[in-house]
Amino acid sequence: MASSFFKSRPVQIASAIGSLVGLGCILKDSMQGKHFDNSVTAKGKVVLITGANTGIGKETAKELAFRGAKVYMACRDQEKCEEARKEIIEDTKNSNIHCEQCDLSSFESIRKFATNFKQKEQNLHILINNAGVMRCPHTLTKDGLEMQLGVNHMGHFLLTNLLLENLKKSSPSRIVVVSSIAHTRGDINVTDLNSEKSYDEGAAYNQSKLANILFSNELAKRLQSSGVTVNSLHPGIVDTELMRHMGIFKSYISSFFIKPFIWPFLKTARSGAQTSLFVALDPSLDNRTGKYFADCEAKETSPQAQNEDLGRWLWAVSEKWTKLTS
Ligand SMILES: *[C@@H]1O[C@H](CO)[C@@H](O)[C@H](O)[C@H]1NC(C)=O
Ligand SMILES: *[C@@H]1O[C@H](CO)[C@@H](O)[C@H](O)[C@H]1NC(C)=O
Ligand SMILES: *[C@@H]1O[C@H](CO)[C@@H](O)[C@H](O)[C@H]1NC(C)=O
Repeated sequence: MASSFFKSRPVQIASAIGSLVGLGCILKDSMQGKHFDNSVTAKGKVVLITGANTGIGKETAKELAFRGAKVYMACRDQEKCEEARKEIIEDTKNSNIHCEQCDLSSFESIRKFATNFKQKEQNLHILINNAGVMRCPHTLTKDGLEMQLGVNHMGHFLLTNLLLENLKKSSPSRIVVVSSIAHTRGDINVTDLNSEKSYDEGAAYNQSKLANILFSNELAKRLQSSGVTVNSLHPGIVDTELMRHMGIFKSYISSFFIKPFIWPFLKTARSGAQTSLFVALDPSLDNRTGKYFADCEAKETSPQAQNEDLGRWLWAVSEKWTKLTS
């Protein structure tokens, strides 16, 4: 009796599914990467994180709050920000967490945010440029820039430059730029940076992530011996809302069928936050600048990302387009 029970179809199928789920869990566990395990405190530090209401940004904010930092969450959607703020305060018992309105797709909003922030705070010890848009359909920012270049690079370029005074005053301080391994597949299109003649959502995303590293490296040079370090990183392939723009997740049906197969290979948002935390806090990085990290260690970037001429070119265009100097 027992043997025919185990041979029955439904039981075999159930057992096969069980094994697959188990395998998936083991695989997922092994895909989470290194965790930041230094217990360094963040007490007395003023931290600003963009896009802190969700995904990696929220997990980064939460850990910094847990370690005692005063955390500013710069977000576009104040309702979602407030929800995340409440959750962070509840989880960490640190009530020194603040929501500030900042829409990175609007230079006016960024300028307003910076003015407002500087009225409240003289200091800024850690700036984490975390917010990002991924593979969205062709849209423009308020200032007419292609959305991914506009938010991921130009918005953060302006924000960072407007906050440099505070960062210098608070040195040793750190700027953390969340880029991606996608930069290795990116090109800076010098003849059509703003994707006006043609648009490919993947190419524009990869370009914006390469721009992040070129910006990080160029700024690191400019801030040499100022006590402000600038480093970029790849957080890992993370299962967060960023993915909502990716083609295969567009329809609920395909998401339902495909997601289980790629789920084991995705990091959780908490795992994705580890390299941001490492670059923001680890004492061994006190004097390291202009570097790129993944899985809590220094990694090589693509050769393009090391192209200093390209970095200078992008800086000059960014200065002009954001009207930084006028
Ligand atoms: C963008 O980068 C990803 C890898 O991160 C690659 O799969 C994709 O083909 C790239 N897109 C383009 C248009 O180069
Ligand atoms: C740059 O943009 C032009 C015009 O949109 C396009 O024809 C060309 O293929 C792009 N070059 C790269 C390297 O993406
Ligand atoms: C960083 O530089 C300062 C000043 O030169 C030095 O005192 C400190 O030991 C250095 N820290 C590390 C981790 O190398």
